[in-house]
Amino acid sequence: MSVSKQVKRVTTHVLQAMKSQGEKISMLTAYDFSMARILDEAGVDVLLVGDSASNVMAGHETTLPITLDQMIYHASSVIRGVSRALVIVDLPFGSYQGNSRVALESTIRIMKESGAHAVKLEGGAEIEESIKRILSAGVPVMGHLGLTPQSIYKFGTYSVRAREDEEAQKLLSDAKFLEDLGCFALVLEKIPAKLAKEVSESLTIPTIGIGAGADTDGQVLVTHDMLGITKDFQPRFVRHYLDLFDQIKGAVEQYIGDVKAKNFPNENEQY
Ligand code: KIV
Repeated sequence: MSVSKQVKRVTTHVLQAMKSQGEKISMLTAYDFSMARILDEAGVDVLLVGDSASNVMAGHETTLPITLDQMIYHASSVIRGVSRALVIVDLPFGSYQGNSRVALESTIRIMKESGAHAVKLEGGAEIEESIKRILSAGVPVMGHLGLTPQSIYKFGTYSVRAREDEEAQKLLSDAKFLEDLGCFALVLEKIPAKLAKEVSESLTIPTIGIGAGADTDGQVLVTHDMLGITKDFQPRFVRHYLDLFDQIKGAVEQYIGDVKAKNFPNENEQY
C-alpha cells in the first residue's frame, strides 16, 4: 500500500517517506473552508494557502498586495475544512524579507491564529536568517525557487526561469543550501524540466513542481486554474480538469431565466 494511504494525517515526515518510496506528492492551493473540505476529502496530500489568493480571490494583478492579516483569514478558513492534508501557508510579501525578527513574528501569528502546520518563503541564500529563525522556533519551512512571483518587478516577466547556465547553477546551489538549512521541501516554479530533475535527484528532501516537468517528487497547481475558474490565465503547464467558469455561468444563466419566467421556486420549493 502507498505511504499516503496508510496515514490519517499527512506530516512533513510522511512527505519525506513518500519521496523515499517513490510515491508522488499531490498538492493544490486552497483559500476557503468549502473548497478545502472538498480537496481534503478527495485525498490531496498537501494544501497550500498560497499568496496567489491575491490574484484569484482578490483580483490583484500580482501577489504583492495581499497582507498578513488576509493570509491568516484564508488559512484559518482552510484549516477548518481539513482533517488529513498538511496545510502550508505562504508568508506574504513584506512579512519576512530583510528582517528575521519580523519573519518569526509573522510566522508565529500564522501558526497561532490559523492553526496551520508549516510556512513557505520565496528565495534562497538571501533569506537565510529568516529561515534559520523560523526553524529555531520549531516551525517547518518549505522553500520556493525558480519563478518567485513576489520578485516579479525584478524579473520583469513571468517567463521560464533558469534557462541560462549561470542562473541554473545558482538555483542548484540555492536548493542545496535550503536543504542544508533544514527546509523540509521545495517548490520549483517554471524552470526547465531537465534542471528540475537534476535538483530533485540531488536533494534528499522532496521537490514539488509547477511548470517544472514530470520528474519532481510532487506537483502543485492553483486549484482555480485546474478547475477552469480562472479564464485569462492559460500557461501550458496548467491541465484543465473542468471548465467551471462556463459551467457556473451556464447554471447562473438558467437560474436567472427561471426567476424571470416565474419557474423558480415551484410548489415543492416553498413552505
Ligand atoms: O501562491 C501560490 O499559489 C504558489 C504556488 C504557485 C506554488 O506559491
